[in-house]
Amino acid sequence: MTQNKENNKIEFLLNHKLVTIFPVNFRPGITVLNYLREHHFLKGTKEGCAQGDCGACTVVLSEIDAKGGLSYKAVNSCLLLLPMLHGKHLITVEGLAQKDGAKTILHPVQLALLHKDGAQCGFCTPGMVMSLFASWQNGNLSDRAQIVESLSGNLCRCTGYQSIIDAAEELNSISQNQNESKNETQEDFFSKNEDFVFSELKRIANRKDSLKIESKNQTYFRPNNLPEALFLRMQFPEAVIVNGASDFVVDALRHDGNHNSILDISALPELDLFVEDHSCFLFGAGFHIEDLFRFSQLRLPAFANVLRYFGSRQVRNVATIGGSLASGSPIGDLAPFLMITDTEITLKNLENNRVISISEFFSQPRNKRIKSDELLAFIKIPKPKKNLHFFNHKLSKRDEMDISTLSMAASLELVDKKIKGVKIAFGGMAATPKFATNCALFLEGKQFSEEIFQQAGEKISEDFTPISDVRGSAEYRILAAKQLLMKWFTELLETLK
Ligand code: FES
Ligand code: FES
Repeated sequence: MTQNKENNKIEFLLNHKLVTIFPVNFRPGITVLNYLREHHFLKGTKEGCAQGDCGACTVVLSEIDAKGGLSYKAVNSCLLLLPMLHGKHLITVEGLAQKDGAKTILHPVQLALLHKDGAQCGFCTPGMVMSLFASWQNGNLSDRAQIVESLSGNLCRCTGYQSIIDAAEELNSISQNQNESKNETQEDFFSKNEDFVFSELKRIANRKDSLKIESKNQTYFRPNNLPEALFLRMQFPEAVIVNGASDFVVDALRHDGNHNSILDISALPELDLFVEDHSCFLFGAGFHIEDLFRFSQLRLPAFANVLRYFGSRQVRNVATIGGSLASGSPIGDLAPFLMITDTEITLKNLENNRVISISEFFSQPRNKRIKSDELLAFIKIPKPKKNLHFFNHKLSKRDEMDISTLSMAASLELVDKKIKGVKIAFGGMAATPKFATNCALFLEGKQFSEEIFQQAGEKISEDFTPISDVRGSAEYRILAAKQLLMKWFTELLETLK
């Protein structure tokens, strides 16, 4: 990547004002949370956990979406790196209320929380406001389930969620009656300014340059095409690769990581790909988990069961399918389902494509299958046969925002109540996600019955010798795996009824 006078300049909008950072005199890999609080003194964005768990730091990113409109996404600013703002509009809680002379006009979200006593100490409130604001902008507050999902990444320790949910329900009625509220609120401020935001974001996008931001002890690369990214990968094999960075920031924090070089692959259009043909779905590695979840609700419902609990919406909005797989975690939420569907992944270097099955990819702990000049580029999920019965479940201590203790995905066919084509895979039961081969073999060809599933459960201890750790003992894992098998049986029974 050659340096020119433009490509070490980060440009974005902050609450409708253009910010240009050129050059940086701090580490470019600073989080947006620290940047806002330390460099802009915007302290409305709070730091609670600094690792994506509490939502106190929630801000909203607006960007031009695939349909050419503006999308609004709630994200955790503690998990976002500053250069990721390039070409986007960052909205913080300070950007919501507007001034009309000496008068401050609150945003409808703020007004609703005020009316319904939705805050006590107020520490979580800016994050709550921003999550609700994103959903308000996207029209996603129409029922209680949507409201709860919108707030799934925000913790409150003192108000209690009912009054916050009441406020969101009030918002829903306001949005259904926009005209009535128009005179007393400024809910249309954001739509009035969309043209300005759109033209600024378009101008920055038209720069079409890759970023290379250097500070004294860190270089941040953000290429804008795949060949350039692969070239950088070859040149700087030690660089940390990030896309959403949700995993990296937490890890860096834990291990006091101050990496010399970061290769950010979030701006590669090639990795946003989605193609469907008669036999498969092909996803670019940069496909966001939230988009995958929405897609799966319609086309791969068994996958959606676990994607809903992959993380909070703030995390799902930035995390990617490729990032989750490349981290190679034995308890990653995606692996079991991808294993039972015979998914393939494509690893790319500058000259070659290497296609391997997901089972082979996970046959070694962590991401040992990715060579030092390769990037994980594509994920191909074969379309499942229509008559397959799926099961996919994640066990964790909290529903959202928690690493799974174990997870199970399985599929089979029932032909005249005879079990055929059984596949069962577990995450969290071994050093890598693994098939429960003995258990599946035992079920194969048997008549469907509760007794057969109970006997199959006994085979799980032949398949796995799990470890004990903070999330669960080995005994707990074996017991939980057997119970998941029986849960699958119960679901199948319901289906047959
Ligand atoms: Fe808790 Fe960011 S500070 S999620
Ligand atoms: Fe105190 Fe929510 S109002 S933590």
